[in-house]
Amino acid sequence: MRECVGIMTGGGDCPGLNAVIRAVVKSATKRGWDTIGFLGGYDGMLEPMRYRTLDYKEMDALLFVGGTILGTTNKGRFSAKTGHGELTEIPREILDEAKRNFQKLGLRALVSVGGDGSLTIAQALFEHGIPIVGVPKTIDNDLEATAITFGFDSAVACATDALDRLRTTAQSHDRVMVLEVMGRYAGWIAAHAGIAGGGDVILIPEIPFHYDRVCARIAERERQGKRFTLVVVAEGARESGQDYVTSGAAEKHREARLGGIGAVVAAQIQQRTGKETRVCVLGHLQRGGAPTTFDRLLCTRFGARAVELVAEEKYGFMVALRPPDTVAVKLTEAIGRLRTVPLDGDIVHTARSLGISFGD
Ligand code: F6P
Repeated sequence: MRECVGIMTGGGDCPGLNAVIRAVVKSATKRGWDTIGFLGGYDGMLEPMRYRTLDYKEMDALLFVGGTILGTTNKGRFSAKTGHGELTEIPREILDEAKRNFQKLGLRALVSVGGDGSLTIAQALFEHGIPIVGVPKTIDNDLEATAITFGFDSAVACATDALDRLRTTAQSHDRVMVLEVMGRYAGWIAAHAGIAGGGDVILIPEIPFHYDRVCARIAERERQGKRFTLVVVAEGARESGQDYVTSGAAEKHREARLGGIGAVVAAQIQQRTGKETRVCVLGHLQRGGAPTTFDRLLCTRFGARAVELVAEEKYGFMVALRPPDTVAVKLTEAIGRLRTVPLDGDIVHTARSLGISFGD
């Protein structure tokens, strides 16, 4: 009987998920193994089980197709996160059922493709006896133990493109344009796209901001003859002393939904400076569409490496990028603590050198 590997995608989708699936299927096929994909995240492992055979022949175009052919969810029955990222215990009967079904299918191992939430579940499944290997996904880039998660580069490319477009309209109208980007409690997307897209003010969760400092930068630009300003706001940015702005409260099986800070910031800027200000919320555009070349390559490397870990029976590990190589790190090193933008790191330093304001 041929060996078979399972794969699932969990959490929010992002560009490159299909490229990982493709790399796993191709590498597994090369070893003479079959692959099945669970549908709709980990919930596909529960009764009634939902999975499909992944045929090597259908993989070709997947390299550049956005989303995930397996479907995903960030609020399934396994959900290990609620509120502002607080951990919850996964019920034992859910873990038991997943293990039973995994064994019923006679799988050699499970490749779990996800961010902090999905990999936290992966660790719980591993501790429950399921041989599992992780692949780090998230546009937020907030996972420990890897230099970068796949999906991030594609999201930054999207946000940078948005800034390029906003610049010409801001310039034409002498306006302040505020771009709200995703990233949850980390400012990676805002910081990278903000610098690459020529932002003047970048507001990130790591640096609580003050409106008078933001407005001071706008006034300074006016004095320099620059009649427009580009402000990039991470959805998790907050005014000093204030709470996060949310667009959806935490539910039983899902985290609170961030969003809305861009509009708040735009209104304050207009009120305080008298300058016409508009807001653009980039939203899920950052998560859709084809992966960048960088992400395609990273996903392919991650997928191939994940299958190698399965071959080596290196379970409870996640593939990670430690430039220039991919390596294996324990899942426990990756989960539980979000990787945020270091205040003394090169990104913040570069931005400050250019005169970009963080509103502090
Ligand atoms: O974690 C990825 C992410 O896109 C975050 O940046 C964002 O806060 C969240 O997911 C949005 O989730 P949803 O798709 O449920 O609105």
